Amino acid sequence: MTRAKRQIQDKLKLIDIAIELLDARIPISSRNPMVDDILQGKPRLIILNKADLADPVTTQQWMDYFQHEGFSVISVDSSSGTRVNEIPGKAKEILHEKIAKQIAKGMNPRAVRGLIVGIPNVGKSTLINRLAGRNIAATGDKPGVTKGQQWIKAGTDLELLDTPGILWPKFEDQQAGYRLAVTGAIKEQILNVDDIAYFATKELVQRYWPTLSERYGLESQPSDIEDNEQIVAVMEEIGRRRGCLMGGGLVDLEKASGIILRDLRAGKLGRITLEAPYDDMPLREK
Ligand code: G4P
Repeated sequence: MTRAKRQIQDKLKLIDIAIELLDARIPISSRNPMVDDILQGKPRLIILNKADLADPVTTQQWMDYFQHEGFSVISVDSSSGTRVNEIPGKAKEILHEKIAKQIAKGMNPRAVRGLIVGIPNVGKSTLINRLAGRNIAATGDKPGVTKGQQWIKAGTDLELLDTPGILWPKFEDQQAGYRLAVTGAIKEQILNVDDIAYFATKELVQRYWPTLSERYGLESQPSDIEDNEQIVAVMEEIGRRRGCLMGGGLVDLEKASGIILRDLRAGKLGRITLEAPYDDMPLREK
């Protein structure tokens, strides 16, 4: 952690703006717990990435939330490139005072210099490649290969450091751990696949029952989402519908769990967000 922090802080000296990448489906769980401390007050643009997989209504709520917290924020889909071209303009907008001062002094302002930061799998490389318009091979990450910092041009207004700042995810918060596992940000070896699918099913029953029931042809909606048996019954029904059966008509719950998680991650259950700004975060006025 100290090393990761130091590496990013070394890079901060070279840049004008930090571009903090979050997963639009879990903006708080995908946020490094020490990011404010690490970025030391650098101007910042928050990007809600993977917006193509997230519930658009909740994404808008998150945009409002971060704006209310004083941040500039934009939602993008780095895979297809949707809204990625708005990033350089946004970065320039955040730095407009600094740029205006340079112009007033008769200087010709150079392109804004940025560093993309975020936890693993949030889409940092995908976004860098999108902004660069080509695939950037991060040779600097391989042992034995040395190279200096390279600047990548993202149009005329923005330059990026080619290697992003890798932040660590939240380790201590169990709910965040499950959300990270459901979205595939942390590997299943750390948590049990049945437990991750149980967590996902509970969230889906609570927030997205119509989509869930339609996809798998489910009939009886649980009356109490805190009742473990009712959630497991939903998982078993999904398993039965998908032919995950073992001897004696028993449902292979592990197989059913795999199906639920694969479908969710691939967007087959629709656009799903697993946390909303106001549900279990510190209370604030709605
Ligand atoms: P990282 O550098 O932060 O570790 O993340 P990376 O870019 O490697 O992205 C992790 C995964 O997330 C990749 O999928 C990537 O395609 C996907 N991804 C990144 N941005 C978006 C986005 O905006 N929308 C969607 N739907 N997916 C996104 P993968 O399955 O690991 O690899 P692959 O399918 O690209 O081969």
